[in-house]
Amino acid sequence: MKEFKILAVLVALVGITYYGIEPYAHSVMHPEVAAADFTFKDLKNVDTKLVGNAANGKVLVETNCVSCHGIEKAGNPAPMPAADAAAAYGVTPPDLSHAGRIYDKNYLANFIYDPVSAMHLNHKYPVGGAKQFPMPPFPLPAQDIMDMVAYLQSIAPKVADDKAGHKATFEAACGRCHNMKYASIEATTPTDSLKTYMGATPPDLSQHIKSRGEHYLHSFVNDPQVLLKGTSMPRVGLNEKAQEEVIAYMEEVGDSKKAERETIGLYVMIYTFIFAILAYLWKRKIWSEVH
Ligand code: HEC
Ligand code: HEC
Repeated sequence: MKEFKILAVLVALVGITYYGIEPYAHSVMHPEVAAADFTFKDLKNVDTKLVGNAANGKVLVETNCVSCHGIEKAGNPAPMPAADAAAAYGVTPPDLSHAGRIYDKNYLANFIYDPVSAMHLNHKYPVGGAKQFPMPPFPLPAQDIMDMVAYLQSIAPKVADDKAGHKATFEAACGRCHNMKYASIEATTPTDSLKTYMGATPPDLSQHIKSRGEHYLHSFVNDPQVLLKGTSMPRVGLNEKAQEEVIAYMEEVGDSKKAERETIGLYVMIYTFIFAILAYLWKRKIWSEVH
């Protein structure tokens, strides 16, 4: 009986540390932030309930967007080499093939209408300020904007839910700024241009899944200003699925042994459990002779 009491005390102490003290310390060091918001409800310039006409959207996109953006999947190559584009705009405009798939619809429509507000970069590009954001706003009628969104959605390729698919999403969403050396991914914008354009060098993301953890990344990517006020990293506007794909990719590259580690952990626990039972039975057998 005595052993069971000791075990109960041990279990209680471990339980208090694990479920009480550790989460408390964690919450002090990493204050809880609002959960990621995938509705982008602060953006209200465009009535996104309108049904878009993809055919008209194609004409509008070809008139307004392909002078800066390539759309490879629709047969539009980048209008100039990445380095020249970076020299002209500060950052290489991303290829828009995946835009209709990875960005939230409400975000994308409002981003076209007013990129600076959608990206939460008003502190960096105040209205009437000296610095201009390289992509101009397109304050067109809501119907035109929804037509463009419908077109971008209609051409976006489906990608598999595997490492290659996750990589495509990462490159489309983050690849103009961030390197991922462990996966041999280099930002499409040269580092020097990025530093001048952003005022900070975007870090290599190979190991951020380990240093920051999944929870932080989910909040940070959804709205960098919440966790790092004043940062020049824009809000990227990914929908929930695309954001999960990006973070899954960061995990596949930066923490590829996670699944293996978790399986081994389970085996170790089963082993310890069986061993504990055997040890207990053995002990009873020996002591039964003594009593
Ligand atoms: C004068 C060049 C220019 C034109 C024209 C232009 N863009 Fe852009 N666009 C850019 C640049 C540069 C960026 C990257 C800005 C950054 O990351 O700071 C960008 C970024 C984007 C993004 C990424 C948004 C995000 O959240 O990461 C999308 C989507 C986009 N543009 C769509 C469009 C569409 C649709 C049009 C046409 C209606 C268009 N752009 C017209 C230069 C342009
Ligand atoms: C237009 C360029 C740009 C794009 C696009 C971009 N980032 Fe960043 N990112 C930055 C910059 C610049 C910093 C450094 C910010 C600072 O130091 O204030 C940064 C920082 C980060 C950090 C480090 C945060 C920290 O607390 O240390 C993470 C993680 C990150 N970005 C993830 C992403 C992911 C994931 C994507 C794609 C979904 C992405 N970024 C897209 C420019 C960008």
